[in-house]
Amino acid sequence: MSRFARQVVVITGGASGIGEATARAIVEHGGSVVIADLQQERGAALVEELGAAAVFQRTDVTVEADIEAAVAAAVQSFGGITGMVNNAGIVGAVGSIMDTSAEAFDRTMAILSRAVFLGVKHAARAMKEKGGAIVSLSSTAGLIGGQGPHVYTMAKHAVVGLTRSAASELSQYGIRVNAVAPGGTVTPMIHALAEGDPERARAVIAEGSPLGFACMPEDIANAILYLLSAEARYVTGHTLAVDAGITTAGSAPPPFFSQDAEIILHGGQRTEDR
Ligand SMILES: NC(=O)c1ccc[n+]([C@@H]2O[C@H](COP(=O)([O-])OP(=O)(O)OC[C@H]3O[C@@H](n4cnc5c(N)ncnc54)[C@H](O)[C@@H]3O)[C@@H](O)[C@H]2O)c1
Repeated sequence: MSRFARQVVVITGGASGIGEATARAIVEHGGSVVIADLQQERGAALVEELGAAAVFQRTDVTVEADIEAAVAAAVQSFGGITGMVNNAGIVGAVGSIMDTSAEAFDRTMAILSRAVFLGVKHAARAMKEKGGAIVSLSSTAGLIGGQGPHVYTMAKHAVVGLTRSAASELSQYGIRVNAVAPGGTVTPMIHALAEGDPERARAVIAEGSPLGFACMPEDIANAILYLLSAEARYVTGHTLAVDAGITTAGSAPPPFFSQDAEIILHGGQRTEDR
């Protein structure tokens, strides 16, 4: 049987980048998707390509009724919902914290944090009877500082916190709640930061990667699919970094690894390690 047979997944921001790659992968594995995005044209084109296993639901994740309607679209079109991916995102407010307005803060948080809260809320209501899996997009900026703008960093840390908190309540209903924290990934969001040039974006990400190549949307989709799938049935409250080890191991190996193998003792005394 196909890995995602009888699975119905709502994907906010599903018309582009990581969301699009996730939608493609779920359909490829036999599941159905609701593409819940602001981008009508892109969403409609994707749905046409994916066929009967996909529907587009025009959604602004800053509007609670839109999120509720996206969840309802899964039930209407495919008879239920088994997965929710809270993925829609923007870079949001940039610049010095000293110059960032409260309005820019609120607009950014509305998309990157509040919408995730509402996505978990409405997915949980719909999944309460039969269980399900929710995956939200955090970021390396949600795990350490210095990886993104201030408000983005704060919002993505909040996603990690909500993931833990919601997991602790919703496990009683058989609902698992996890997050994925990508490092730089070659999507339109990042193309925009590289003057609209995907190749330049890919080269910049590859250069900063300890693994020496750039993360593609499919790499993040694979992690999302794992957390949505039965293979992760005992995993909840977890944030899975998909970042070539940047948040756990740093971007360059420390000098210890290129030294001769020996043990350094008290006072710097050295002894051979044989
Ligand atoms: N690309 C990266 O390097 C990277 C790294 C870490 C985390 N992320 C996160 O991954 C997620 C997906 O980003 P991406 O890189 O695929 O970007 P993307 O720009 O390719 O896709 C984002 C999608 O979200 C949609 N969207 C934006 N605002 C919306 C709104 N108000 N309502 C509904 N949809 C809206 C856009 O229309 C777009 O289709 C985001 O949450 C982002 O923060 C991306």
